[in-house]
Amino acid sequence: MTDNAAPPVALVLFGGNGDLATRMLLPSLYFLERDGLLPANVIILLAARSIGQGEAVVAQVREHLDRFVAAEFFDEAAWSRFAARLDGLALDATCAADFAPLARKLTVANEQIFYLATSPALYGPICRNLRDAGLAGAGSRVVLEKPIGHDLASSRTINQAVAAAFEEAAIFRVDHYLGKETVQNLLALRFANFLFEPLWSARGIEHVQITVSETVGVEGRWSYYDASGAMRDMLQNHMLQLLCLVAMEAPVSMAPDAVRDEKLKVLRSLKPIRGRDVAAKTVRGQYAAGAIDGRPVPGYAQEIGAQEAGGGESMTETFVALKAEIDNWRWAGVPFYLRTGKRLPTRYSEIFIQFRPVPHSIFTTPADAGLAANKLIIRLQPQETIRLMVMNKVPGLDQAGIRLHELPLDLSRTEADRKQRQRIAYERLLLDVINNVATLFVRRDEVEAAWAWADDILAGWRASGQPPRSYVAGSWGPSAAIALAERSGHSWHE
Ligand code: BG6
Repeated sequence: MTDNAAPPVALVLFGGNGDLATRMLLPSLYFLERDGLLPANVIILLAARSIGQGEAVVAQVREHLDRFVAAEFFDEAAWSRFAARLDGLALDATCAADFAPLARKLTVANEQIFYLATSPALYGPICRNLRDAGLAGAGSRVVLEKPIGHDLASSRTINQAVAAAFEEAAIFRVDHYLGKETVQNLLALRFANFLFEPLWSARGIEHVQITVSETVGVEGRWSYYDASGAMRDMLQNHMLQLLCLVAMEAPVSMAPDAVRDEKLKVLRSLKPIRGRDVAAKTVRGQYAAGAIDGRPVPGYAQEIGAQEAGGGESMTETFVALKAEIDNWRWAGVPFYLRTGKRLPTRYSEIFIQFRPVPHSIFTTPADAGLAANKLIIRLQPQETIRLMVMNKVPGLDQAGIRLHELPLDLSRTEADRKQRQRIAYERLLLDVINNVATLFVRRDEVEAAWAWADDILAGWRASGQPPRSYVAGSWGPSAAIALAERSGHSWHE
């Protein structure tokens, strides 16, 4: 095993051979090992219904890493250290008796982290079994993935079941967007600079756009996705979390509850979208067959899994655009446009902040034709870039006097940084769970406030009886989404 100067910390991955564990969690843990960030006393136990032990599980994990870690980043010495931490345990998460061998294995550990990379339907049963096996006391924490429910009522049921075993301070709810490098950089930009704060309100900002655009379809997850849709899969969680970080007041510190208290206030200030507003302020769409990068792709109703389930009739949205408003002093009157969809033309995630124009231009026509308001453009992916667009004089002499153009002040990673591997968001989050730091995790009241707001919109859609608008795969969604922004004199930044 490992150098055990400190008593071991056991990280138990339920769903240890599932998709999330093999594609994200194990590669992230391996990279923490490779980069010398994984404390020496951490041991990793993969728990799943059918999984090997000892050498067998080590061989399985090696196969996964060979698939999901690029050869250029693979280091055999790091792998040997990593392999020495691994073990497996076959267990049926719903069977209380199976938790006794788990408890026996964990007697060596001083702290236990239970990462539930399983279906949310198992969160309640696993937590109950952990509690009954005496594994949910002091020194234990539990990590949950989204979706926490599919509406407010079901999220409360899950949260309640987890709370029956673990204290809120020991519950880590993952929103992997909070682990992304540029998202944390947003906190640095806002709160480690004085420059932006005086302008960071309705006084200086005209509107905000948050876009998460994906080219992929439902990726073989039709049955999960069809019960969720873009609102539940992306908007209620990832996008509202981004909105919170843009809009929140300065927290008193980076302490978990200091940050989460401020995010919660934003969620509670979101103006409800109900009744007629649902049609006026939201647009939902579903992709039809089209082409991405010149390659034909099927429509949602023709995806694998759809036909078997009678998917031709599905009312599920794969695109949503909406205009959110925050009813508080700082943001009154500032639209926050949120847009996300599958099978859009390019993959990018971006926060776009449009400042107000100068109150009066001293540059005479036609020279001021180029005058534009400042913008701050934060790209989360595919590249991590931050650009502040500022006006500048076009160099040289011009008959018409001073001519203006817009230039970026580029705060993006340097060329040398860019050559480095882009970290997986889960690396940051796993490290924080191990270190027991919950700042980048979502508290129960946040999840429930986000559901309360999303539920009104979902109810409005249901009540309308209208299906989502169709859009051609490879387009920017239904044209109504363009009209949504244009009605207030805005256009989407693409
Ligand atoms: C997940 C959603 O939470 O986030 C997926 O379930 C989506 O549908 C994914 O594709 C997007 O994450 P990322 O990090 O690739 O932007």
